[in-house]
Amino acid sequence: MRTGRGKAATGLAAVVLSTAVAGGVVAATQSSDEAALQPARGAASQNIEHRIDSLIRRMTLEDKLNQIQLLSDGQMKERPGEASKPVGGVFSEVDPVLINKYQRQAMESRLGIPILFAYDTIHGFRTIFPIPLGAASSFDPKVASEDHRIGARESAAVGLKQIYSPMVDVSHEPRWGRIAEAGGEDPYLNSVFAAARVKAAQGDNYADKDKVVTSVKHYAAYGQPEAGRDYNTTDMSERRLHDLYLPPFKAAVDAGSDTAMCSFNSINGEGGCASKRLETDLLKKQWGFDGFIESDYTAVAELRTCPPKTPDEGPCGHGIAEDGPGAAAAALNAGTDSEMVSELIRGNGKMLLAQKRISQSRIDDAVRRILRIKFRAGLFEKPYVPVDPVAAEAAQLQPDAVAAARKAAGRSMVLLKNEGGTLPLSKTKTTAVIGPLGDDGHAMLGPWWGRGRDEDAVTVFAGIKAQNPQTTFTEACKMAHTEPPQATPADECASDAGFDAAVTAAKAADQVVLALGESREQSGEAASRSEIDLPGRQEELLRRIKTEAPGKPIAVVLFNGRPLTLEGVVDDAPAILEAWFPGVQAGHAVADVVFGDVNPGGKLPVSFPRRVGQVPIYYNHEPTGRPCDKNQKYNSRHRDIPFCDPQFPFGFGLSYSKFEVSNLRLSSKSVSRNGRVRAHVDVRHVSGPEGDEVVQLYIRDPVASLSQPVRRLRGFERVTLKPGQSDTVTFTLDKSDFGFHDNAGKLVVEQGQIEVYAGNSSEGKLMQTLMVR
Ligand code: NOJ
Repeated sequence: MRTGRGKAATGLAAVVLSTAVAGGVVAATQSSDEAALQPARGAASQNIEHRIDSLIRRMTLEDKLNQIQLLSDGQMKERPGEASKPVGGVFSEVDPVLINKYQRQAMESRLGIPILFAYDTIHGFRTIFPIPLGAASSFDPKVASEDHRIGARESAAVGLKQIYSPMVDVSHEPRWGRIAEAGGEDPYLNSVFAAARVKAAQGDNYADKDKVVTSVKHYAAYGQPEAGRDYNTTDMSERRLHDLYLPPFKAAVDAGSDTAMCSFNSINGEGGCASKRLETDLLKKQWGFDGFIESDYTAVAELRTCPPKTPDEGPCGHGIAEDGPGAAAAALNAGTDSEMVSELIRGNGKMLLAQKRISQSRIDDAVRRILRIKFRAGLFEKPYVPVDPVAAEAAQLQPDAVAAARKAAGRSMVLLKNEGGTLPLSKTKTTAVIGPLGDDGHAMLGPWWGRGRDEDAVTVFAGIKAQNPQTTFTEACKMAHTEPPQATPADECASDAGFDAAVTAAKAADQVVLALGESREQSGEAASRSEIDLPGRQEELLRRIKTEAPGKPIAVVLFNGRPLTLEGVVDDAPAILEAWFPGVQAGHAVADVVFGDVNPGGKLPVSFPRRVGQVPIYYNHEPTGRPCDKNQKYNSRHRDIPFCDPQFPFGFGLSYSKFEVSNLRLSSKSVSRNGRVRAHVDVRHVSGPEGDEVVQLYIRDPVASLSQPVRRLRGFERVTLKPGQSDTVTFTLDKSDFGFHDNAGKLVVEQGQIEVYAGNSSEGKLMQTLMVR
C-alpha cells in the first residue's frame, strides 16, 4: 500500500481563508503545516528584525526609496551610478563579474546593503528541463523538484539569489501563450507542483550557496485574460478566484516562498499591483506572508491612464490612477513593495509623502520586507559569488543535471494515441525522421529558455540516430522562428516544396517519426494565438505521408506549449506522442520513449479542445440545466460541433501497458466536517512491459448552496508496476476537499453528500458516496 498525493501525503496545507462561523458554515482553522511554518520563519527572525531596525533608523528617505526600486540589467548598464545608491534589486544580469562589481559598489556604499540579483529561471537556468506544462504532465512532483533544485544551483553559481518562479497561473485558456509556463487547468495539480518547486529551490535555508529565494507569480488570476490575449483584463467571481486561481499561490507561500510578483492584469477592475484586498489583506495578513511583493515589469506605470499626463513616453494602461504619482501611491498603498523597471515610487515618493498620499510606515514596511529577505538569503554575510570563469562554466550543465533533464522529459511525455501498437518503434529498422521540428535544437528549449543554448539541445534526429544509426532526416518545411510584428502565419511551414522529398524518405524507411508542432516563439509571453491548430501546412504533410506511404508505422511527436486542436491529426496519425517542449535532452528523451526504453506514463494537465470555438473547455466546470446533448437542440452546445467533449480530457494519457484501476473504498461512509476520511484504490498491471499508471481521485459536491464543479482533482499518485504487480493507493480527504468558497471569499463546508471518483483520467468511473455531517 502507498499513500497518494492527497494533502496529508504531500504536506500541502489546507486552503484556509476564513475563520468566520456562520449558520451552517464551519470555521476553518490553520492547518498543522501552516502553524509549523511560522516558528521556523520566526526563529531566526528576532535577530534579523533588530538588524533591520537599526538599518532603517540610519536610512534616509532616499535610501529607502532606492531599496524599493528594482532595475533590469539594461537599466543598470545605462546608468553606472545605480549600484552605489544602491537599488534594492537587479534582474536579468547573469554575468558573475558584473554582479560582483555591482555588489561591491553597494557593499561599499554608506549603509552596505547588498543588492538582490534575480532571474527568470522558469524551467532551468542552463540545463533546460521540460516547460512547466510538460512537467505537470508527469504527475510526478519530483520532476519539478529536480528542475528547481538544479535551476537554483546553476542560478546561484553566477551570483543570483532570487528566481521569478514558480509561475502558478491556473488557466482554462489555451489561446494564451503563457499557459506553457504553469501546470495547466487544475488548482490542485498546480498547488502540488508549486510547493515542490519552492521547496527544491529554497531548500531548508535559501542562504545556502546552491539555493535561491523563489517568487511565486503572477498574483493573481493572470491566467484567465479575456480572449486569451496576454496582459488582458480578468473578471471573475470571488468563489472562482478562491477555488480555482488562488490555491497554488497559497501552496507556494505555505511551502515557504518568500517573495511574490503581482500581475500586469486588472482583476475585477483592480490592478493586479494595486489590490489591497489581494496583496495586503489576503496574502500578507491572512496568509501570513512576511516577504515582499515585486511588481511585474512596468506594471506600476501601467496602472495610470493613457496617455500619461507627464510628457514622458512611459507605459500606461488601466486608468485607475490619473498619473505617475497616483499609480505609485496606488501600488504602494495596496501592498506592492518593490517596483520593477518603472520608477514611479522612487521618483515621486518624497512628494507623495509630503502630500500624505503615502505613509512613512508603509515605506518602512516595504523596506523592512525587502531587507528581511536579503538577511534570510545571507547576502549581508556573503554578498559575493566566487568568480572563477572556469568553475562558473563547470557548474552548469553537469552530468547529474543532464541526466535529470532527460528523465524529466521522458516522464513528461503523454501518449495520446497508439493504434495497433504502432509505438514503440524498432531500433533495428530504418527510421525516417521527418518534419520542421525534427532537427531543431532551438525549438526544443521552449519559451523561457534561461541561459540554455540551442547547441546544448539534442534534436530529435540526433537522439533517434544515437539509438538507431539507420536514421535519415528530411525537414519537409521550415519553422521561421520570427517574432511579431514581423511574424505572419505564413512563416511556419508555409511551403510544400519539401513535401515530395519527405514522401520519398518515408517510402524508403521502415518507420516514420514525424516531428510537428509550434515554434518556441509561438508560445510563452506575448504569444497568444487565435487558432491553436498545427501551424502552416503540417497537417497536409502528415496526410501526404499517410496516403503516399500507406501502411507505414507513423509516430507523430508533438512539440508545443499549449493544448492544440488536433481534429485534423487524430484520424491520420496512427500514433501521437505529446512531448511539449522537452528541454535540453529532448532528442534522447523522445528516442527513449519512441523505442520503448521508457514507457510513457504522463497525463494531460489540461483539456485539448477539438476546435478553438469550444474554448474554454475544461474538466472542472460547473453543471448546467441543459447539459450538452449532440442529438437535441435546446441545450448547451455549439450547433456546428457534433461533439460535447474535448478531443482529449484532463488526466488522460496512454501507456505501452494496460492497467486496471479498481475497488475504490472509503474508510468511512460518513465524516464530520472537521474529520478525515481515507479513500483506497487498487491498481493492477494487466499487460505489457513495466510501466506507470497515475491513479487519480476526484470529488463532486452534487448539492451545494453554490453550484459546484462536476469534478475536482483532490489526489493523484504515479505508480510504477512490473508485469503482474498490483498496488493500493490511499488518499486522505478533509474539509479542504469538501469545502468551497462563497462569493465573499469564505471557505464553507456544508453538510451533505460528496461523490468520490477514482480512475486513470478525469473521466474515471469508480464512485463512492460519502456523507459529510
Ligand atoms: C515579465 C513577465 O511577465 C514576468 O513573468 C517576468 O518575471 C518579468 N517580465 C521579468 O523578466
